[in-house]
Amino acid sequence: MSTISCLSPKRIVQNDIQETISAAANHARLTSHGEAPLFASLRQFVSRRPAPFYSPGHKGGRSLDPWFKANIAALDLNNLPDTDTLHCPAGPIAEAERLIADAWGVAESFMLVQGSTAGNITMALAALRPGDRVLVQRNAHKSVIAGLIHCGATPVWLPPFWDETFGIAHGVDAATLEAQLSKQPARAVWLLHPTYYGSVADIAALSATCRKYGALLLVDGAHSPHFAFHPDLPLPAEHAGAAGVVQSVHKIISGLSQAAVLHIDPAILPTQSVRRALQLVQTTSPHFAIMASIDLARREMALDGQAQLQRTLDLARKARHALTAIQGLRVLGPEHAAGPDSGFFGLDETKLLIGVAELGRDGREIMALLNSHYDIQPELAGADHILCIVTLGNNEADIDRLVAAFSEIAGRARPKRQDASDSVMIKDLLAQPPEIVLTPRDAYFSPDETIPFDRAIDRIAAEAITPYPPGIPVIMPGEKLNMDVMSLLRALHKAGTPISASDPQLNTIKVVR
Ligand SMILES: Cc1ncc(COP(=O)(O)O)c(C=O)c1O
Repeated sequence: MSTISCLSPKRIVQNDIQETISAAANHARLTSHGEAPLFASLRQFVSRRPAPFYSPGHKGGRSLDPWFKANIAALDLNNLPDTDTLHCPAGPIAEAERLIADAWGVAESFMLVQGSTAGNITMALAALRPGDRVLVQRNAHKSVIAGLIHCGATPVWLPPFWDETFGIAHGVDAATLEAQLSKQPARAVWLLHPTYYGSVADIAALSATCRKYGALLLVDGAHSPHFAFHPDLPLPAEHAGAAGVVQSVHKIISGLSQAAVLHIDPAILPTQSVRRALQLVQTTSPHFAIMASIDLARREMALDGQAQLQRTLDLARKARHALTAIQGLRVLGPEHAAGPDSGFFGLDETKLLIGVAELGRDGREIMALLNSHYDIQPELAGADHILCIVTLGNNEADIDRLVAAFSEIAGRARPKRQDASDSVMIKDLLAQPPEIVLTPRDAYFSPDETIPFDRAIDRIAAEAITPYPPGIPVIMPGEKLNMDVMSLLRALHKAGTPISASDPQLNTIKVVR
């Protein structure tokens, strides 16, 4: 007779509970609850006061309204009669949304409190149906893929223009789009305007092509909240006939992180469809400071946007000029644009994409050095480049520190690196993307299994695997894994690029069973 069978059922349950409690107590002894590791790390970073070349655009509060900055905790409120309710706005939120639409020059706008990520998912749920054919540029952000998984549309990838000099992908040209649309109609075309690096394609021509073939134009404009407010910035998609445009207000102008807006043309994308989708996607407990920051960023742009952006552009141009003069560096500039037919038609000059291939060091290594030795924090780095974002919150001293640090680093440059960088592999991947076997939604919801990463060749991915930043999946759910994709992911991981995946260490991967 086993010991357990001697015990009454009640005793068994009590023993189980006892075991659970002791396991929890043991666990608690292993962990030091006097520590708050995230808070400590953030506090240390903030007290170092690094020169900020990352988003959010207010750069540690420099461009925030003083009362707002001092009262962010007090503004953490709830849906109350005085505050209005995000899901059914009828008071100050509704009025703030009307002002946003007016300032950006669009028919209707919505506040988003979960970034452009929520906006892209909302657009998919509002505009697309399961099985709809949608043309999507292959360097789409992972939130666009999330939208496709939510709505079940069938993507057809559009190849973006590849930049040999900087090792990055830009936009899609109108001829490539027309070639696809003339072969087979599509419900929608989903474009990126601009890329993370600030480059844009000819959005007016792309929009005209969409109109010609009766396709909705949806735009991930996460990095374009400021385009409408300065004539030297590229044409904003919301003025080029898009049905919907998503913008992160936190990236360049003064929104808090997660602040974003969705602009729509209700004649093409009905208001009710968008509201219904927003009910599904947005939290019912929005942070009112995030929404207030959108309201204030709108006020700042509407009243003084051109002057503020002129100052920002002047700083970025000064930095671009000085960095270009340093031997071994190249900085992406408007002069590199390759014309309207190319997918690289114009540039948002507030983005400084610094090519470092000639320095003989990996860009990620240089970014780490900038942080540890110079107290300078860029936005992101790849094998051959570093991206610095100049925003409303930057000042002359930041620019001087950046230029001085690069002068010193370039002065110690080694001979040109000979090895093939991972940007070459990304180029090959974009030129020949993996075979699509299932839609992202079908792959996501298929029976799946977790297997060793090295044994996944020829299997169908059940997840997106995304180097972050910039957040562009290397493999999409539903695509067949091949040697090129696996080697690229391994190389990115080895180089220290954070990988967003079910197993960020890439020991295992989720594939369709
Ligand atoms: C192109 C693009 N789209 C969408 C997003 C998502 O924006 P958010 O972080 O505001 O959710 C990002 C974020 O970096 C992005 O780069």
